Amino acid sequence: MKLQGKVAIVTGCATGIGRAIALRFAQEGADVFCCDISDVVKNTAEEIQKMGRKSAWQIIDVTKLSDIDKMVASTIDNFGRIDILVNNAGVYIKAPILELTEAQWDTMTDVMLKGTFFCTQRALPYMLKQGKGKVINLASTFGAVGFYEATAYCAAKGGIINMTRQMAFDLAPKKINVNAIGPGPTDTPLMRPDLDKPERARLYLDRTPYGRVAQPEEIAAAAAYLASDEADFVNGHTLFVDGGWLTQ
Ligand SMILES: NC(=O)c1ccc[n+]([C@@H]2O[C@H](COP(=O)([O-])OP(=O)(O)OC[C@H]3O[C@@H](n4cnc5c(N)ncnc54)[C@H](O)[C@@H]3O)[C@@H](O)[C@H]2O)c1
Repeated sequence: MKLQGKVAIVTGCATGIGRAIALRFAQEGADVFCCDISDVVKNTAEEIQKMGRKSAWQIIDVTKLSDIDKMVASTIDNFGRIDILVNNAGVYIKAPILELTEAQWDTMTDVMLKGTFFCTQRALPYMLKQGKGKVINLASTFGAVGFYEATAYCAAKGGIINMTRQMAFDLAPKKINVNAIGPGPTDTPLMRPDLDKPERARLYLDRTPYGRVAQPEEIAAAAAYLASDEADFVNGHTLFVDGGWLTQ
């Protein structure tokens, strides 16, 4: 049990990768504060409680600072500390460059860049007080390379990769680790609309040397490592879990 006695916040953990990370953290001994804009997040918290760990849940929108403050306050009220923050909430809206709207741009950059920054800023004082903490940001292979009709998504994920480096640079002396995970295509509700269309699915599979998409549990395994004491000397890194996508 790599995370025995730790308290984690996982944003966007109603479904997909966030849910898998929350459950894996609980398996590793952590208590988990689960939050999402969807009330389906309650199911993740209940599953964790059935595993014998403590969990609480809250509906929050990571683009709203008042919600983020509530998330941090509730975690402290319920568990008394914050050891791990996973900035996982994300949205994937595709549009050709000439058609991308201001609202779509704002949604993607607000959820992923603004949300990641302010969730970290607001959880940080507790980690600093404890003298240790782990922040894990969900980036993407599309933060390192381009992909069809994904301008705002690629911009936001690229921003997350360099924000991760910058925060690690500032915070490493305080023994706070800030790392990212860059999944390749992963079988979650976010990707299902593409994976269900054979011609779209081929665009992902043809670029994945391993020949399949990832399962959310494979991304959660990377998060469990980065959240653990074994990764204390890993800082500012993006761990790509992509079946070899970035070898090309
Ligand atoms: N699935 C993939 O192929 C893939 C690949 C690379 C990176 N990612 C990243 O992994 C993360 C998880 O994605 P997923 O595939 O599990 O998608 P998902 O759609 O299954 O999960 C994303 C969750 O974020 C929540 N969310 C969205 N907006 C929110 C907001 N404003 N506040 C709080 N919660 C919000 C959603 O309700 C949802 O539960 C995202 O950051 C995504 O960009 C996914």
